[in-house]
Amino acid sequence: MIKVLMVCLGNICRSPLAEGILQSKINSDSIFVDSAGTAAYHIGNLPDERSIEVASKNGINITNQRARKFTEKDFDEFDYIYAMDESNYQNILMLARNINDKDKVKMILNEIHPNLNKSVPDPYYGGKEGFKNVYNMLDKACVVIAKKLS
Ligand code: 4NP
Repeated sequence: MIKVLMVCLGNICRSPLAEGILQSKINSDSIFVDSAGTAAYHIGNLPDERSIEVASKNGINITNQRARKFTEKDFDEFDYIYAMDESNYQNILMLARNINDKDKVKMILNEIHPNLNKSVPDPYYGGKEGFKNVYNMLDKACVVIAKKLS
């Protein structure tokens, strides 16, 4: 089993979308996808209703998800850890215990824009258009990730 973890700040907007989108493109018999946040604000919550809506419009149901916090144990559990933005990336790396942990952490948009370290913008304080934009970016990145893992 290959295990992939999507990580943002709150685990209610971006990483739940990344989880749902990647899940829709892979075979769940051989690849496990989960998501987490670096902050504790929303633990136990459903994804943001705007993420639920944009996912649903694209045929993806993410209402089974509940927010949880990233912990250092996730380095043991997962093979690939994708950060949505630069700040998530730094926050994850702060918890890394060794080089092996660090090597698992990638910026998700590097899958489509190699080495540029671009961030998926935080859509929380914006409108629906921001969520659509995030969805489209993550969809492109997940096409590449799914192809690599399959
Ligand atoms: P996410 O978005 O990191 O994509 O889940 C956010 C969700 C909540 C907050 C910030 C970003 N917040 O400040 O509560």
